[in-house]
Amino acid sequence: MKILVSEPIAEKGLEKLVQEGATVDLKTSLTRQELLKIIGEYDALIVRSNTKVNEELYQKATQLKVVGRAGNGVDNIDMDGATKRGIIVVNTPDSNSVSACELTIGLLLATCRNIPQHHIRLKGKVWDRSGLKGMELLDKTVGIVGLGRIGSLVATRLKSFGMKIVAYDPYISDSRFQHVGVEKKEKLEDLMRVCDILTVHTPKTEETYGMIGKEQLAVAKKGLTVINCARAGIVNEVALIEALKTKIVARVGIDVPEGEPEPISPLLEYDNVIVTPHAGADTKEAQDNVGVTIAQEVISALRGEMVPNA
Ligand code: MLT
Repeated sequence: MKILVSEPIAEKGLEKLVQEGATVDLKTSLTRQELLKIIGEYDALIVRSNTKVNEELYQKATQLKVVGRAGNGVDNIDMDGATKRGIIVVNTPDSNSVSACELTIGLLLATCRNIPQHHIRLKGKVWDRSGLKGMELLDKTVGIVGLGRIGSLVATRLKSFGMKIVAYDPYISDSRFQHVGVEKKEKLEDLMRVCDILTVHTPKTEETYGMIGKEQLAVAKKGLTVINCARAGIVNEVALIEALKTKIVARVGIDVPEGEPEPISPLLEYDNVIVTPHAGADTKEAQDNVGVTIAQEVISALRGEMVPNA
């Protein structure tokens, strides 16, 4: 079992792979060309979100049997290409949900209270609160797009702030909405019309990419706060910037700017936009969970055993 780990995973995960008898190469600084040159030697590849596992890679990966995505989404993996070749793709759908949810809450609070902006002024030895009046969460309405694992955790936590929660998710049953205690909106536009804060928690798919765009922002309440800790582009950045300019959107908190891992998103230029570098899953707890889970799944898949998240 020869396994290439092309992005950092927790030490515990690496130890688990070795304990199970695998030969593990941790190479997290490979250029694309270097990766393509060596991938043919490996039975399994473990990635996070930066390695694009696509046709170009599959063509060189002549021994590849398993791809392990150390995380939730599989949007950087060409699933059809894997299926065509009988390559098993495994991921860890629930191992970092709490961390992603907590970063969402953190960004939401930081955005609504201008915490980074205050911090930057004081670090510059300037004691000045002017122009940075915040917004309370109490009695505000939050619109959650995507009421899966992370969206539900966010809903549960935001209720304790005294917020009204509405959600849009055509794939979730009515009973789940009731269980989480969230009002269902049948149409995305209906959610956009009522919410003070919008937070998105969908996977990135052809259907969700750009789903919050010009038309949706056009019906939003003026002064909307937008949070995106899901994937770049679910909220269209061009439309978002336009809405910032026209003040339809007052504040943005975003963990997933377009262009990652390069810091090139034009959103970085705006003072009322807070940006983090796809850090939703970056806690010790989440990374330990993800590392151990993905190691176990990759080993099981290589051994031909049943794998829960294949
Ligand atoms: C995820 O899909 O769970 C995250 O993108 C994981 C990561 O940060 O690599």
